[in-house]
Amino acid sequence: MTTLVDSKALRTGWYVVAESADLKDEPMAVRLLGEDLVLWRDGDDSVVVAPDRCPHREAPLSVGTLADGRLTCIYHGWAFGTDGRCVGVPSSGPDAAIPPAAHLPCMRVEERFGLVWVCPGEPAASVPEVHQDDDPAFRRINTGVEVWNVSALRMVDNFLDISHFPWVHVGTFGGGQDTTVPKIEVGRLDDDFHGYRYEVDATNPIEAIATTGTDAPEVHRWMSTGFNLPFTIRSMVRYEDGLEHIILLCSTPVDDTTSLFTFVVWRNDDHSVDAETVIAFDRAIGAEDKVMLEQVPGVLPLGRTDLVNVQSDRPSVEWRRQLTEFMGVDGD
Ligand code: FES
Ligand SMILES: [Fe+2]
Repeated sequence: MTTLVDSKALRTGWYVVAESADLKDEPMAVRLLGEDLVLWRDGDDSVVVAPDRCPHREAPLSVGTLADGRLTCIYHGWAFGTDGRCVGVPSSGPDAAIPPAAHLPCMRVEERFGLVWVCPGEPAASVPEVHQDDDPAFRRINTGVEVWNVSALRMVDNFLDISHFPWVHVGTFGGGQDTTVPKIEVGRLDDDFHGYRYEVDATNPIEAIATTGTDAPEVHRWMSTGFNLPFTIRSMVRYEDGLEHIILLCSTPVDDTTSLFTFVVWRNDDHSVDAETVIAFDRAIGAEDKVMLEQVPGVLPLGRTDLVNVQSDRPSVEWRRQLTEFMGVDGD
């Protein structure tokens, strides 16, 4: 059976565990690939990520106290600072040497796009680039982190899939959309994303006007959707008037069947509509996917013969092929 938490290869990927804005004056507990972690900001405002386990007697460090960038364990007061270095063992007195094993085995962490990305092992690649983040014509909107009771595998499979639009998204943009999916060519979109381009006519209900920037009853969208292994998806939409709306969808395996989900939006709009209104339609679309996916139990099988695929599943089939190679599992 496919499992995520036992995969050594998945430990070489980058995962969003929080938004940067979430990490302030308190330590934070997160679970990634079945492992409990603690996050905090050190004295330089850099994020530290370590196992949520004090090396002394295994108290969870996430319930410790944070002051001046030092995290103090509430059990016997050991203190930890930059890079997880143990900087104080009160029972030994101020002059005693710190045991080398008292320093925390920290994980790599990067803050990009207002998100905290963690790689539990040796990174296989960099955090994916979104060039619009450096483009002053675009504004970035962060949206918060949710818990979905869904395997990250099922989330990515869904985010790559067009054919569910007229079914699952009938309440948002999918109503009236053609159920037949045109032939899709899957290939490299750019340095960081692999996927496909397509065009679609979508209904433009009143709730979508803030997002699409027009009150036309229907909008034509030029789109591309692509993946960056293991679980990051980028969806790009361009409308006729040149408005671009880019969404980064980040799925983080808490364990095999629970995930964190967040999305980030970049838009080259005129800022005339406030951020929360602009993303309300995307939130509604995500909620439709969540309702659907939380009804599908277990982990998406990665074996090639386990599921029936048709031509509209080609993007997911390609992602699964690359993922099984990445994970070093047998895809047959
Ligand atoms: S368990 Fe943390 S200081 Fe003892
Ligand atoms: Fe969807």
